[in-house]
Amino acid sequence: MLFRKIFIVILFTGFIQTANADQVISLNSPDGNIRLGFLQHTDGSIGYHIFFKGKTVIAESGLGLKLKTPDISLIKFDLSAIDSSAANESWKPVWGEVSSIRNNYKQLIVKLTERTGSGIQLQIIFRVFNDGVGFRYSFPQQPKLSHFVVADELTQFAVSGDHKTFWIPGDYDTNEFMYNTTKLSEVDASSSVMSQEISAKTFFDKNAVQTPLMMKSTDGLYINIHEAALVNYPAMNLLVDKSNLTLQAHLVPDAVGNKAYLQTPAVTPWRTIIVSDKATEILSSKLILNLNEPTTLTDVSWIKPQKMVGVWWEMHIGKSSWDYGGTQAGSTLSPHGRHGATTANVKKYIDFASRNGFDGVLVEGWNVGWEDWFGQWKEDVFDFVTPYPDFDLKELQNYAASKGVKIIMHHETSASVTNYERYMDTAYRFMKQFGYDVVKTGYVGRIIPRGEHHDGQWMVKHYERVLKKTASYKIMLDAHEPVRPTGLQRTYPNFLACEAARGNEFNAWSEGNKPEHETILAFTRLLGGPMDYTPGLFRIKLNQFDSTKKEQIHTTLCKQLALYVTMFSPLQMAADLPENYEAHMDAFQFIKDVAVDWDDTKILDAEPGDYVITARKAKGKEAWFLGAMTDENGRSFSTPLSFLTEGKKYRATIYRDGDNADWKNNPEAYTIEKFLVDHKTALRLKLAPGGGTAISFVPASAEEVKLLKIYK
Ligand code: NOJ
Ligand code: CA
Repeated sequence: MLFRKIFIVILFTGFIQTANADQVISLNSPDGNIRLGFLQHTDGSIGYHIFFKGKTVIAESGLGLKLKTPDISLIKFDLSAIDSSAANESWKPVWGEVSSIRNNYKQLIVKLTERTGSGIQLQIIFRVFNDGVGFRYSFPQQPKLSHFVVADELTQFAVSGDHKTFWIPGDYDTNEFMYNTTKLSEVDASSSVMSQEISAKTFFDKNAVQTPLMMKSTDGLYINIHEAALVNYPAMNLLVDKSNLTLQAHLVPDAVGNKAYLQTPAVTPWRTIIVSDKATEILSSKLILNLNEPTTLTDVSWIKPQKMVGVWWEMHIGKSSWDYGGTQAGSTLSPHGRHGATTANVKKYIDFASRNGFDGVLVEGWNVGWEDWFGQWKEDVFDFVTPYPDFDLKELQNYAASKGVKIIMHHETSASVTNYERYMDTAYRFMKQFGYDVVKTGYVGRIIPRGEHHDGQWMVKHYERVLKKTASYKIMLDAHEPVRPTGLQRTYPNFLACEAARGNEFNAWSEGNKPEHETILAFTRLLGGPMDYTPGLFRIKLNQFDSTKKEQIHTTLCKQLALYVTMFSPLQMAADLPENYEAHMDAFQFIKDVAVDWDDTKILDAEPGDYVITARKAKGKEAWFLGAMTDENGRSFSTPLSFLTEGKKYRATIYRDGDNADWKNNPEAYTIEKFLVDHKTALRLKLAPGGGTAISFVPASAEEVKLLKIYK
């Protein structure tokens, strides 16, 4: 039986080889560029390696798991069988960067039996795509193993050189760090963990980094390591062994030091290695989505990609506050007069949203508890249903409805997750009663139950429970401070966005985000799923309400526009205050026009840490949008518009950095120009230091064809 199956693999996928008494079972990607090998030594130990066009991506690396209960290391096996198959199909996401996604891979399943007599069966499933490899451990239902506790996952990634690496420190609770760029051998997280502005962080090793981890080899390969379909398991950090440039999986522990509690049948998340010799192909990879399960929701008509404004930034820059005033001692509320979420203020935002075609208005600080919260590790802070006295729910519900706008709910859980779980049903019913269908959750602070971590199995299960429960109420979700995403938006399309990285908000109250930040996020965090980055800040210097405030946004105004295209999210915020948009209605037009859901995406040019140029076609419309963003260096590009439909003339509205713009000294200078272009045009883009360009393309009217200047 075994031989027959091996023979099938030889014919079907590649070759099997027995050299030095080791066995290699190979599997090639559909286009033949990637070769994966599953390796087995005579002592029963197993591993894998990966090559791209003959270059080593992952040199031989170990596989296996260490269990705590039963107490056994699953590292030596007998090979019982192998199985292979292939898929080449396409599927349509409910929303996304493209309207149809090809899922084309070859699969190898190796079926193993632990060798030292336990009889435990383990399978490893490998899928090789044209853009990379995914593999996971699978424990079938079996007589010798039912419930078990994982002590460690022994997966390794032996990268084949001292790559340029874009990394944030490993942590059990947060991913809101600034990125570092060093050689892999120079990773040292000890200096970057001190960021004071992160409310809960758990440093555990100076050699640890988080995924998605982006690397570039000296021989021109772009390699990204992450995971897909993280459910019922902790997130994976990576420990860098600098002496042999090997990354070792390190799972986030729970309160008593265990990693995962599983029951057969069980699978781990997929370990993903995306690889290409073109940076643009890393950004267009759909490997992580393909490795997630299709949604089981039959009615998705209530899921709506959208744009929002919010009673939000004004709190971050000190115009108003979340709390109403008072103290929890004796539950007293007494107004201090700076509360942001008042009925009158929310109406102002509703009016602005309605006038400008926005769908939603996020309102934070509407509910009792803020006066009691910050910095405490307290269990009962919020009940998610009691508004402050100056926030009139019913009146605002009617007012928003009369203006065709929806208010977006905010549930800051204060990381008291047991408390949130007790209130979830009540809170979601309350939302429906008052006309809300999007919730932004937040998990600022140390988790309760105490000892659990944001990225451990307990919380991973919580985030999934929230996705399921919100879906059952037809509620869309935007989660702040969750574990970083792994493509679950395919399974739960109500998962519009999450934060799980250092957002634009850090510019308001910390040293901020370096100008290169977003060009790294595109290659790291965003590979797992959309981010609520909160772009669109027009007022760059943040001393508007406090002349002593030194903080500023680390981009030009035009780069803020470009982010709507370069950083995909089906939920986009226009984060600044209405009055700051009203001062620049010509530039604000781009935010009004830009789509949030797309038929097609072309990554035109990109380099991690340097720049990204992206063009996208709006869903169901002949309208294209282009975003170009750069790091601290000014850059020029000649960008062909060959993505435009041949034979059509378009009006291009170009929002570019002013001639002397610069993120630091002249960030708000911009120029808007309109030209007639077609698919043969090559545009010259000139981005200021920390700058960007945003462009909309719509088919030109007959009159515009006559009157508009042809781009030369
Ligand atoms: C942190 C979130 O990222 C931010 O958006 C929110 O305003 C605050 N927490 C308060 O919940
Ligand atoms: Ca945050």
